[in-house]
Amino acid sequence: MKSLIIAANWKSNKTLDEDDLFVSKFINSYKANDLKEIIICPSFTGISFISSKLKGNYGKISIGAQNVSSFSQGSFTGEVNAMQLKDFCSYCIVGHSERRINFSEDLSIINDKIKNLLEAEIAPIICVSSLDQLDGILSSINGKSIIAYEPLSAIGSKDPANPIEVNKFSREIKEKFDVKVLYGGSVNSENVSDFTNQDSIDGVLVGGESLDPISFLKIIENA
Ligand code: PGA
Repeated sequence: MKSLIIAANWKSNKTLDEDDLFVSKFINSYKANDLKEIIICPSFTGISFISSKLKGNYGKISIGAQNVSSFSQGSFTGEVNAMQLKDFCSYCIVGHSERRINFSEDLSIINDKIKNLLEAEIAPIICVSSLDQLDGILSSINGKSIIAYEPLSAIGSKDPANPIEVNKFSREIKEKFDVKVLYGGSVNSENVSDFTNQDSIDGVLVGGESLDPISFLKIIENA
């Protein structure tokens, strides 16, 4: 059996109390499986807490950030740089369509973020919604990088992409580059195995359905 990555993108959700509630319910029923690496990506405000509770304590649970500064340390008010994340995170999401659209993140910003993450030895989870979006990015990635294919129409829509098409897309990337490829967009406990059973898909990036510990545990179980 192949190994899988199951990543939770909590987006801008959860207070510290809600983080705490998630952790207590999650660890009650979570069964570690060496073939399934879980990556939880909370907001910056929850990273320290979630990391202290879950990182390394229950087998293969890693912590990821959802964003990083395109600058390194210095006079950049409000920014969190890659070296600061390194204490807590082994992964960081970058290039998510919500950031490209709502925060005008372009290729040059995304590439700077990837470069900073790789320098800090944090693996970037690079989100793309089309093959075209990979063009300007691939020169800056290495084997630590993960690509998450997230078609725009599938995000938060309850209308996931076709698993066969996603597998084809993943294979094309993997033929050219030594990277893992995840699928993201309306993944739930019922459809997760349609994706994870495909030979070229290495796991999933889950938004909405990862917020509730019970539904996230079901996704992990069924993956
Ligand atoms: P969704 O989000 O699972 O809620 O569709 C996925 C994502 O945006 O990463």
